[in-house]
Order: sequence, then C-alpha cells, then structure tokens
Amino acid sequence: MTAFDRDAFIAGLPKAELHLHLEGSLEPELMFALAQRNKIAIPFNTVEEVRAAYSFSNLQDFLDIYYQGAGVLQTEQDFYDLTMAYLTRVAADACRHVEVFFDPQTHTDRGIEMGVVIGGIARALADGQSQLGVTSKLILCFLRHLDEDAAFATLEAAEPYLEHIFGVGLDSSEVGHPPSKFARVFEAARAKGLHLFAHAGEEGPPAYVWEALDLLKIDRIDHGNRALEDEALVARIAKDGLTLTVCPLSNLSLCVVHDLTQHPLRAMLEKGLKATINSDDPAYFGGYLNANWHAIAKALDLSKQELVTLAHNSFAGSYLTPTEKQAHAEAIEAWAERF
Ligand code: HPA
Ligand code: ZN
Repeated sequence: MTAFDRDAFIAGLPKAELHLHLEGSLEPELMFALAQRNKIAIPFNTVEEVRAAYSFSNLQDFLDIYYQGAGVLQTEQDFYDLTMAYLTRVAADACRHVEVFFDPQTHTDRGIEMGVVIGGIARALADGQSQLGVTSKLILCFLRHLDEDAAFATLEAAEPYLEHIFGVGLDSSEVGHPPSKFARVFEAARAKGLHLFAHAGEEGPPAYVWEALDLLKIDRIDHGNRALEDEALVARIAKDGLTLTVCPLSNLSLCVVHDLTQHPLRAMLEKGLKATINSDDPAYFGGYLNANWHAIAKALDLSKQELVTLAHNSFAGSYLTPTEKQAHAEAIEAWAERF
C-alpha cells in the first residue's frame, strides 16, 4: 500500500470554482501585451516589476493596484482574451465549472461600453464550454465604495445583456460600506430574476454578514471568514445551508489570516458550514485554483475525505442543475476510488 499522494489526488479531482474575479486573473504578461496593443502607458517596465508591486497589507492596498491594472482592458477582444486565458488555465486544474465575477463599473467609468465588456466575456465563456468543457455562470458585481445610484445605473446599463448575467454580487472595499447601502438595488436585481451574492466578512464584521443575509437575501456568501466570530450567525448559516466561497491564498495575501495553518477552513467544515476553496484573484495572490487547494491542504493536513467533501461542496454550492451536480458527484467518487 503506497502512501496517499495528496498532490496527485488534488490535481485530478473534479472541482468547481465559485469565487473568481475575471479582472483578478489578468497576468502581468497579458497586462503588458494589452498595454502595447492599446498604446496605454503602465507604470512598470518589466513583468518582474509588476510582480514585485504585489505585496499587500490589506484589501485596499490590493484594490488600488487591481483597478489600475484593469485599465489596459479596452476592446471586446481584450475581455475575450482575459476570460479565455483564465478558462484555459483553470481547465488544467480539473475545474469543470466556474461562476465568475466581473466589475463593470471599473470599465464603464473609463468610457468602455457595457456591451464591449459583457460581449467579450460571454463569447469566451461560450467557447470555454465548447472547446474546454468548462461550464460557467457570470455574476455582475457592484463596487461597494461607489453609491447605490451608481449600482442602479449599472444594472440599467446591463439590461440589454441580461441573458448573459446569472446574478449580481457586491465587492471592493468592505469596511465602511455595509450591505445595507445596497438593499434597494439588490431587491431590484431580484425582481429581474437574478441570483444574489455578496462579499461579506472578509474584513468586515459579523454584522455585515447578518445584513447580507437579512437585507440583501443573498444565496451564497463570498469569504465569510469573520462569521465564525458569532455563534448565532454560524448556526444561521448552517441552518440555511448557505455555501461559503473561501479563498485561502487571497486571505494570506491580504492579511485576513497571517499563516495558513491558522486558516478557519477546517473549523468551518467542523461547524457544519459548506465551505469551498477558490482563488479570488489568482494573478495577484500567487496561484490558481489548485494552488489554493495544495496550499491549504498542506497547511491544515486535510484528509482525503475532507478533500472529497470540499470537492462535493464546490458543485453542491453552484447553480448547476441537479442532474449536472449528480454527474459531477459521480466523477468525484470515481476519482476517489482510484486512490
Ligand atoms: N474582496 C473585495 N473585493 C474584491 C476582491 C476581494 O477579495 N477581489 C476583487 N475585488
Ligand atoms: Zn473576491
């Protein structure tokens, strides 16, 4: 009997990614290529200089450089290339399904048309399914540091393209911008049949997670780390069966945790929460989906059974149909039997 080869097991384990910002998958190499293609000046001379700038002490540090990087995205083809590069990369991680975020206000505020952004992304998602076998859903995020009127204007601008939009999310600077600020626009999105997501409890307090649940009525919690500070909140999330999209390398990069061995992922599972592993912004945080799986599995010494649970959680927490979920669950079990 050979020892369990955890890395090989993770490498081929079928999985889904439920927390990924497309703009956060912009690699320095593509950033340079697009800057050149679009004749845009960027404040870096080499890929190494860009990577050296990726040292953050909190969420805002990261967001400042992330919004700056997104400035090279100009044309429909740019958004296609960004999205296709991500799908190609994550397909190599045995990722079969993705539910991805984009930040339209980052682009429309620079004069890029909503149709250019969604058109390029949607075309790549369709090709990702036909060429790579990766299915997907697209989630439009409102920037929470901007006001609710701007979010309403964004929802209105997206109206002609809603066939491509599965849901709305809430991201950007969390502290000082509670979910309650967006209660009306989330209600309007819900009335349009959109699903609702929100980043909550990454840096913000448990009260923000309560608000996301009670006021925004979200279907899934992005991050949710700080929910563990409130036992009643943990009980509520467990009772409602909500999935948490947890991002280990992001948490480490943004100092949400100071050491992966202290990461709350196992505690979440032990408390009955449906936690999943995701990459958030892989070009900025040092790794794509499997890098997150490898790092957290090593730090917490996750067992084969825990890894299987996490893989099941990733599909169960998705918005695939029950039939699709069943097929993925069987693929996970078939892979597990081989080890
Ligand atoms: N938190 C908030 N906003 C974001 C993030 C994040 O982790 N990534 C991209 N926008
Ligand atoms: Zn995020």
